[in-house]
Amino acid sequence: WPDGTRLAGQDLIIGGLPATQLAARFGTPCQVLDERTVRARAQAFRDALPRAEVVFAGKSLPCPEVYRWMAQEGLSLDVSSAGELALAKAAGFPAERIIMHGNVKTAEDLKAALEYGVSRIVVDSLDEIAQLGALATHGQEVMIRVTPGVDAHTHAKIATGVEDQKFGFSLASGAALEAILRVVEQPSLKLVGLHCHIGSQVRHVASYEEAVRRMVGLIASCGTRIEQLDLGGGFCAPYLQGDRDFDLAGFAHRITGALNYECALHRVTPPRLLIEPGRSIVANAGVTLYRVCAVKASARTFVAVDGGMSDNPRPALYSAKYAVRLVGRGGQPKPVTVVGRHCEAGDVLAEDVLLPRDVHAGDLLAVPATGAYHHALASNYNQVCRPPIIAVRDGVARPIVRRETEEDLLRRYL
Ligand code: LLP
Repeated sequence: WPDGTRLAGQDLIIGGLPATQLAARFGTPCQVLDERTVRARAQAFRDALPRAEVVFAGKSLPCPEVYRWMAQEGLSLDVSSAGELALAKAAGFPAERIIMHGNVKTAEDLKAALEYGVSRIVVDSLDEIAQLGALATHGQEVMIRVTPGVDAHTHAKIATGVEDQKFGFSLASGAALEAILRVVEQPSLKLVGLHCHIGSQVRHVASYEEAVRRMVGLIASCGTRIEQLDLGGGFCAPYLQGDRDFDLAGFAHRITGALNYECALHRVTPPRLLIEPGRSIVANAGVTLYRVCAVKASARTFVAVDGGMSDNPRPALYSAKYAVRLVGRGGQPKPVTVVGRHCEAGDVLAEDVLLPRDVHAGDLLAVPATGAYHHALASNYNQVCRPPIIAVRDGVARPIVRRETEEDLLRRYL
């Protein structure tokens, strides 16, 4: 739940406002986003690593207003397409604090990045190095994405540091060294850093320590001065009661220790550290409100709501688990399965969660930890309109993403 969320009777107060009131005013499904939580988590990263550059992973919650909050909190921003860059531009995000990522950047993505003057582009293939080298005209700063071969012990679909996946240049095979040479050879490019991102929802600091060890080894062996070392994002967020939050203080302590130790060992000047948190800043700031539309007792009790996999495909994609709370009243609990409105049996939001046994149509449900990769992954499956995002702060609510309408949908059809 967002910081400061509390119960008032059976109602849930988020950002100073009752969830029942938010649902009545803005409709359901809707995502409530607590601005203070987002800002506090962004600050926590800056405070934990005051000398590092903290880069918000814009893909986790693409929204100009959220990007503005990040700019105000002193963070940089990573974008992974011309589309995310367009949102950054709309937010007025300073180009000198934008990094562009992606294992595929089309010519349009690269041109948009060069035109806006993003400070660094993280290259991910030899094809891209050649293409960017030809498009860039004046010492475009570049980082190289390296696959360090580190297992982040997370879901296979979001493990990106191991050898057998599509991202980056393999350290073990020598591809990373070759990429370094290629960038150095390009007169229009300037190599400033190395990057790795071992995965997402990573729980263990040890995985990052191992990445530091390997990356500093590479820096020492490449024969070129590397000013920046970007360790990517991936810091886990708690989804269910009892889940542990990421040990940020421990991370800061152990990572700076490992960096200094390895650099001393290899006699290289320590590079400036960058990190790219996304989920850990926004996940717990978001709460999705759904209205129950139907309850069906068959093999088990299915509680069907007015949203589903179009606003939350994470259970279907990663077997992600969510908590669900009925808001506005209580009652004797029983286990139910909360499902969405989409034409797929896999459209399940939460299995075996406890809700009052008389849960019925019209009830309001709140699902916490929905701030990261929900709006970002939302679709129009079954031509269902995507929900709005309502920012709340100190008792004031305002939409920062409006609800999609059928007019929006029809606009694309010819
Ligand atoms: N940096 C890079 C280069 C990334 O690819 C990502 C996430 C991040 C930083 C931020 O990672 P975070 O701190 O948010 O874990 N859709 C999946 C997550 C995919 C993550 C993609 N890359 C999910 O819903 O779990």
